[in-house]
Amino acid sequence: MLFAPLDRTHLRALFDCGVPELNRFLQENALQFVKKGLCAVHILADETSIVGYYALSASSIIAANLPESVAKKYPDRLPIPCWLLGKLAVDQRYQGRQFGKLLLMDALSHIVEMSKNAGGYCVIVDAKDGKAKDFYLKYGFQTFPNSELRLYLPLASIS
Ligand SMILES: CC(C)(COP(=O)(O)OP(=O)(O)OC[C@H]1O[C@@H](n2cnc3c(N)ncnc32)[C@H](O)[C@@H]1OP(=O)(O)O)[C@@H](O)C(=O)NCCC(=O)NCCS
Repeated sequence: MLFAPLDRTHLRALFDCGVPELNRFLQENALQFVKKGLCAVHILADETSIVGYYALSASSIIAANLPESVAKKYPDRLPIPCWLLGKLAVDQRYQGRQFGKLLLMDALSHIVEMSKNAGGYCVIVDAKDGKAKDFYLKYGFQTFPNSELRLYLPLASIS
């Protein structure tokens, strides 16, 4: 089983994580997004199928969206650089076998490396629903005060 950047040779059509939007992204949009520089897509695959994937890109937030105790330490008019883990999904046949955790840890290790050269306050994720949110909460992500399903993890807590 190997991590690799997504390319045309990967069998995307068979991927099914149980969430149509995340299947569709991988099957129909991911290669175009990569080509246009909108994100990088990393997959975990064995010889026959895609086990899971995640999408990463640079992003930013504004201080007003952070808890007041954190926001006061940051400039209020400048965007605060961060990294967006825009998608993360595991094929249903492989769920519950620690592959989601493996994908998340791989994404975080890339983010930590990138932040050494490019900075960044945190990684943000948009959970699809309460169940996905619980997955991220387990790994230390916190909800933004004004958003139910957008979560963040300060890089200082992982690097
Ligand atoms: C959410 C998802 C990525 C988890 O992947 P997975 O491979 O099934 O999860 P893992 O086996 O790696 O689980 C790792 C740990 O997280 C826990 N966990 C998994 N899903 C969880 C959830 N929804 N809520 C809370 N904990 C969860 C597991 O119990 C396990 O804990 P343990 O190490 O203490 O035993 C996967 O279920 C999935 O792709 N779901 C559909 C798409 C989705 O919701 N993506 C989330 C981003 S929007």
